[in-house]
Amino acid sequence: MKKFVINGGKRLQGRVEINGAKNAAVAILPGVLMSSGVCVLENVPDIADVNSYIKILEHLGCQVQRDGKTLTIDPTQVHRTDARTEEVRSMRGSYYLIGALLGRFGQATVDLQGGCPIGERPIDQHIKGFESLGATVAIEDGATISSAEHLKGAHVFFDVVTVGATINVMLAATMADGQTILENAAREPHVVDLANFLNTMGADIKGAGTDVIRINGVRELKGCTYSVIPDQIEASTYMLAAAGCGGEVEIANVIPKHLESISAKLIEMGAQIEEFDDSIVVRSDKRLKACNVKTLPYPGFPTDVQQPMTAVMTIAQGKSTVNESIYENRFMHLDELNKMGALAVFSDRIATIIGVPSLQGAKVRATDLRAGAALVIAGLMAQGTTEVYDIEHIDRGYPHIEEKFKALGADIIRVEE
Ligand code: EPU
Repeated sequence: MKKFVINGGKRLQGRVEINGAKNAAVAILPGVLMSSGVCVLENVPDIADVNSYIKILEHLGCQVQRDGKTLTIDPTQVHRTDARTEEVRSMRGSYYLIGALLGRFGQATVDLQGGCPIGERPIDQHIKGFESLGATVAIEDGATISSAEHLKGAHVFFDVVTVGATINVMLAATMADGQTILENAAREPHVVDLANFLNTMGADIKGAGTDVIRINGVRELKGCTYSVIPDQIEASTYMLAAAGCGGEVEIANVIPKHLESISAKLIEMGAQIEEFDDSIVVRSDKRLKACNVKTLPYPGFPTDVQQPMTAVMTIAQGKSTVNESIYENRFMHLDELNKMGALAVFSDRIATIIGVPSLQGAKVRATDLRAGAALVIAGLMAQGTTEVYDIEHIDRGYPHIEEKFKALGADIIRVEE
């Protein structure tokens, strides 16, 4: 069993380098399957979900070489379209294999996904999109089975703003005959990053980053070199840790525009934020003030940052509220924060947190990825020793988190029992 042991109460000082974005990487990696040549991907994060994706690509017939943050992937020998492995089942982003394999080979059998238990997470909008393009889709024997003679461009209006379906249907439509228009599309930076990657390979995708994406299908995608965007969620987590613990931290290799909703809230809470071209400095030297947050699709406050934000709210002066509008079950971490002396309650999608002067160390359990990040921040802010268990959730999305916090002056170690 692995855990983090944290002796909290230390100010954070220094510089932290942000890695490539998990949620962009898990969309771009399956996109490589559509290429007729070798792809070189740079700035790929060293996280469990990427390692799982590498195994999946190898299982399908790709040759993958890793050199630090660079992956060289040769998809020219792909010989199967069934992905039914433990790695597929271990994460959410593996559902992008459906769009990529269906788009390139006209068929895909992909085991149903795992990922964080934060809500029901249906895939009806993905299926609606694939069917609009002319595919038949069935869920049988624990897998999504899809096929199509020829995918044909179509007009798809999503009923909800969904990152997953926008990406998946974009992948499938990239090599379909004719034009596809995706309306009410998600605008997240990783949607734009995938479109940029596909366009670099020769796709014709316009409008990514707005709510209408137009895709003119192309016959072939060629190999390319592409660098994954910085992870806005990892960056936000370090921004919140710096604000909560106090100190001065430079968050480097970021796109400040992607972090505006976080910067705005931290300024409202009393932290100082200074933006540069590709970095942000967070300074905090007094107790933060409470604030209210509602999670929304981009450019609103991201649901993935909600949990780390609640950790900081536990010690902010006054009453904070959180309205979680994306997922119905993303407050499980509040019970763990309460074990550390927080005063947090929730009912349905609304949480109320009364700030206490300080948290006390305790033994707590990460129930999912961002819950784990919230508990690490809480442990760093708390008086005394915190033990965070089930940290394999954290390893899915945060590269070398304990080393990065240690370099900022935190007292945190990984223990394997
Ligand atoms: N939804 C539907 N039907 C669908 C698809 C989604 O009703 O067919 C609903 C969901 O239930 C949810 C909302 O639409 O209420 C948004 O879901 P979305 O599709 O945007 O989320 P996702 O693709 O399942 C991705 C990220 C999540 C992140 C969300 C929102 C990946 C692999 N996952 O999930 O990341 O929270 O977008 O931004 O990209 C994380 O990194 O910790 C994480 C959970």
